[in-house]
Amino acid sequence: MVKSEDFRVNIRYLSRFVFAVLAVVLLSGHRAPAAEAPAAPAPVVFSKDIAPVLVKNCNACHGPREPKANFQVTSFQSLMKAGESGSASVTPGKPEDSELFNLISSTDKDSRIPKDGDALPTEQIALVKRWIAEGAKFDGPNPQAMLADIIPHTAQPDPPAAYRRPVPITAVAFSPGGEELAVSGYHEVSIWNVQNGALLRRIKNVAERVYGLNYSPDGKLLAVAGGMPGQSGEVKAFDPATGNLVKELGSSSDVIFRAVFNPAGTKLASAGADRTIRIFDVASQKQEKLIEDHADWVVGLAWSLDGKRLASASRDKTSKVFNAENGESVTTYSGHGDQVFGVAFSADGKHVFTSGMDKRIHAWTTDNGQKSATAPPFDREVLGLVAVGDKIIGCSADGTVRQFRGDGLAHFRTYTGNTDSVFAVAYHDGSKRVASGSFSGEIRIWNAEDGAIVTSFIAAPGYVAPHPAAAPAPVANAK
Ligand code: HEC
Repeated sequence: MVKSEDFRVNIRYLSRFVFAVLAVVLLSGHRAPAAEAPAAPAPVVFSKDIAPVLVKNCNACHGPREPKANFQVTSFQSLMKAGESGSASVTPGKPEDSELFNLISSTDKDSRIPKDGDALPTEQIALVKRWIAEGAKFDGPNPQAMLADIIPHTAQPDPPAAYRRPVPITAVAFSPGGEELAVSGYHEVSIWNVQNGALLRRIKNVAERVYGLNYSPDGKLLAVAGGMPGQSGEVKAFDPATGNLVKELGSSSDVIFRAVFNPAGTKLASAGADRTIRIFDVASQKQEKLIEDHADWVVGLAWSLDGKRLASASRDKTSKVFNAENGESVTTYSGHGDQVFGVAFSADGKHVFTSGMDKRIHAWTTDNGQKSATAPPFDREVLGLVAVGDKIIGCSADGTVRQFRGDGLAHFRTYTGNTDSVFAVAYHDGSKRVASGSFSGEIRIWNAEDGAIVTSFIAAPGYVAPHPAAAPAPVANAK
């Protein structure tokens, strides 16, 4: 009968329970020798233990612009100030008198922080509590520094040993000699043989997403810009031959889209979702200029060949030219009337080419922002752009890569075969090769002299393509 079975189960369960309790009682009689008692845990370190939690979970709503409740979680100094409520966010030594602790540990879903999200993991709440109880100490060099900048750099997770799916390609770059192609991956940059598409090397310790790749003119450094949207951004420079990390040139609380060396290789300019452009001295790794002139993400950046000017492309629908020496804005171009993605200077520096949401490439005068030519339109937005000599090449969400003549932007050739949006394009003048990277994870390399395909491959190490008809759709997150 069901009932007696239930009963039997209960008895069995109960006796097991009693046994377990007894065991605990008996065993606890054996006192552990004093020497084995756990040592007091090491004090909580703000920069290492707390800042990463805050940057990851709070920045979206308590960042530098329009922070919720007028409470900023951008620096240690701002964190310690009360917001709208007027009650201290952190009272050193007293977690229970700290608004911040009370909100993250609240059991009331409506008042709990982070708002509209899951509660922080209990270990993290415990860490914050202990940090406050231990005096809410700051261990960094400067309490006004951005939290993202004081987090000690830790190695990024490894890329997958073998990809199970292709990942969208967001950046490609030819080595200065033209033999190798660097390609964005998931927590890595992979390096491929341009002739036959063979994988040569994998560079790890890279942000989850890579948006910008640029070789120094001497080929000794490969700058990698990337990050995690809304959370972190970084620019690292690696030795492309060994994959060793050589320099760290800036970090940010949001992704960095571009990092480009000046033609002399002495400076590196970066641009990102924090709307800024930064110029670093490569040798000292010091930030020399901070340009805050755009009202939205800066997604494109280029140096003039004489190294005196920088041109930007932004989601704020403008492209700007700056004096690279003093950081001052020289020209603003609003001719696209929509988001601008790609930007490049003409060889003589007198013109700027830009591409945008309006499906077109424009040419305009560097000094006065007057439009001089418009290319025949693509079918969709033009996401990337390179200009070398007379070759102006754009890549588009319509799946094509199209080349125009530098003078007048007449259509010259279309490089075909991509089956998905093309995010990235690169050109190597010495070998006359054009490379593109697409959402489907495919790299295509053509000969610019006749438009013929040289090689194509899926740039996902270890990936084994299933039968073509059964290929899975790529996803942004490969894991
Ligand atoms: C999704 C948005 C969001 C996120 C993420 C978020 N908050 Fe808030 N926070 C708010 C809003 C909105 C308020 C205003 C109070 C309210 O509406 O209850 C607030 C208020 C606060 C206050 C009170 C400030 C005052 O003095 O009035 C503190 C402290 C706070 N948040 C800390 C944090 C911390 C720490 C994190 C990260 C662990 C965080 N918040 C993440 C939206 C957010």
